[in-house]
Amino acid sequence: MSDILTHIDAGVMTITFNRLDKKNSITSTMYAAMADAVEQARTDASVKVVVFQGHETIFSAGNDIGDFLNQPPSTQESPVFRFLRGIATLEKIVLAAVAGPAVGIGTTMLFHCDLVYAGDNAVFSMPFVNLGLCPEAASSLLAPRMFGYHRAAEALLLGEPFFAEAAQEVGLVNRVVPPTEVNGYAQAQARKLAAKPLSSLIETKRLMKGSYQQEVLQKMDEEGQSFGRMLREPAAKEAFGAFMEKRKPDFSKL
Ligand code: COA
Repeated sequence: MSDILTHIDAGVMTITFNRLDKKNSITSTMYAAMADAVEQARTDASVKVVVFQGHETIFSAGNDIGDFLNQPPSTQESPVFRFLRGIATLEKIVLAAVAGPAVGIGTTMLFHCDLVYAGDNAVFSMPFVNLGLCPEAASSLLAPRMFGYHRAAEALLLGEPFFAEAAQEVGLVNRVVPPTEVNGYAQAQARKLAAKPLSSLIETKRLMKGSYQQEVLQKMDEEGQSFGRMLREPAAKEAFGAFMEKRKPDFSKL
């Protein structure tokens, strides 16, 4: 079965991470499938709402580290950047249902969702610094704006995880429910939205987000260039090497 499942029903496109054995970490093939699904949602008149979901034990462990090392995103047309631009510019409504860990892009993609529901076991983290990298998905712009600078600095500089309740407090999560209920709850909310007039949904979203979309895309571009360069530098090589060898990274000389 595919690592990304896409399903359309009653105006709702559901995109499911389906790679449990690797903790729903995302390969470039998966990003390409997600980017294509988002483009389909954009043009398919039968889709009003998109829902991203994982499993009740894990949303996503972020980028697949081995795949990232083998085929780092080299241009703005790389699947990961195509996917990020896609969700950042999708006019239709985007929801996420998060249970368990949401690492790296598993958290940063949520800044581009309109509504986020979390299981009480959800753990969010943006450990880019710990991987010798820098933020992506415009999180360096959107996290300080949403959380306030100091709380964003804690999440992005220390890279420490934060839990569902804290995520709700800073405004990243709308509602916390039991992990076994989060996908169902998000589906129910998506269906409520899908019963509303699409033109009103689209216009309301545009009025709320349209004025800073260009700024978001510019920041994604800037981050993408730094991220691509840093991926080839010693700190990231040490961090990724350590992950593959199941040891702690040593940044003492970096
Ligand atoms: N890329 C590639 N493989 C990954 C992965 C990732 N991001 N995250 C987990 N996996 C793999 C592990 O290597 C392991 O594979 P194996 O069974 O072949 O050894 C398998 O998934 C299970 O992972 P494990 O770490 O044993 O699960 P866990 O439940 O103890 O921990 C996480 C789950 C998500 C907390 C932990 O896997 C993790 O921190 N992953 C790395 C996250 C990360 O740094 N992402 C990059 C962000 S840019």
